[in-house]
Amino acid sequence: MLASKRILLGITGGIAAYKTTFLTRLLIKAGAEVRIVMTESAGDFVSPLTLATLSRNPVHTAFIREEEGTTDWNNHVELGLWADLMLIAPATANTLSKMASGTCDNLLLGCYFSAKCPVFFAPAMDLDMYRHPATRESIEKLQGFGNILIPAASGELASGLEGEGRMAEPEEIVRQLEQGLLARMPWKGKHVLITAGPTYEPIDPVRFLGNHSSGKMGFELARAAAERGAKVTLVTGPTGEEIAHPLVICIRVRTAREMLDAARSHFGAADVVIGAAAVSDYRPAEIRDQKIKKAAEELELKLVRNPDIIRTLAGEREHQYIVGFALETENEAANALEKLRRKNLDAIVLNSLRDSGAGFGGDTNKVSFVDKNSQITPFELKSKAEAARDILHEIDKRISK
Ligand code: C5P
Repeated sequence: MLASKRILLGITGGIAAYKTTFLTRLLIKAGAEVRIVMTESAGDFVSPLTLATLSRNPVHTAFIREEEGTTDWNNHVELGLWADLMLIAPATANTLSKMASGTCDNLLLGCYFSAKCPVFFAPAMDLDMYRHPATRESIEKLQGFGNILIPAASGELASGLEGEGRMAEPEEIVRQLEQGLLARMPWKGKHVLITAGPTYEPIDPVRFLGNHSSGKMGFELARAAAERGAKVTLVTGPTGEEIAHPLVICIRVRTAREMLDAARSHFGAADVVIGAAAVSDYRPAEIRDQKIKKAAEELELKLVRNPDIIRTLAGEREHQYIVGFALETENEAANALEKLRRKNLDAIVLNSLRDSGAGFGGDTNKVSFVDKNSQITPFELKSKAEAARDILHEIDKRISK
């Protein structure tokens, strides 16, 4: 569950902070990527050096970088957005109160207010502090914001008193993170089939007909679908993109016909199919056995039509929700709708080449989601990862009706 998850661990100043060394170790062992921010007082209980070593990342305390003579600062927005999950453990009464009231006077709180991901918090304090109505109120308020409480346990407290207030044990925290994430996976049990990247159509043993598709959008869609808990089959043409997610099976192909064969064999099991591949519409009629020699001034290549993968699949549709992509340069919406109808799709994601930052190669995209009822939902220019989440959100609205 936690494999390749990006976890931002916020440590505040309570004695339970010493347990975060074990916690960090467990998270790393579970395959998570861990970055740590801590309050200044947390540093009195546990050494940033220990945590940096265990997490394999620098640990940050202040907005301004601690190194002498630097003008660099720790970007809380970037850290908050980086995270797939934020965990505040231990969460002291002081930090809980600031989180609940909107006080932002340190880096950890800055990250908390910037985070868009699920936030878990594990309170730790003495029993009377834990019971105090002010603390109860903070906790309830945070739960009301959608943050997830990992309740304190009962037992011996650092003060010598017995009662509720001990931070949950690291193993228990990890278990609750996994459980909490699982509950937030709305597509658990679904199967998503995605095509991505270009196709390469061989001309001779060394040459091919291809295009500049990077595959990034398709790979981000695969990540976003897996984040939602779906099993993903990603059929991709040649690309430098990599994906390592336990829910994603990546099948690498070269030609359109190979892509169709691979996609077809996973189509029956799919609930959602997204065609993000830039499939070559034509292929050379024959593939020469030997490298074509340079001889005449002109060379003619005869091309034949490739199968339209998404259209073929849509023709064999049983229950699948099928989404294509359209890259248009003029009359975008009308052309996208016409393509949707021609290919018998449920929706089409429109990229306009007129929008700067959209389309091939880059890390950003500006898309509109067009459905078969001609409803058009335009989005801002965003990272391809965020655009992928938007697209899946639109699909989700329509398949869970
Ligand atoms: O017709 P056009 O290539 O513009 O359509 C784009 C959409 O159709 C994309 O979803 C693309 O993945 C899909 N497509 C396909 N097989 C083809 C050509 C396009 O699946 N041969």
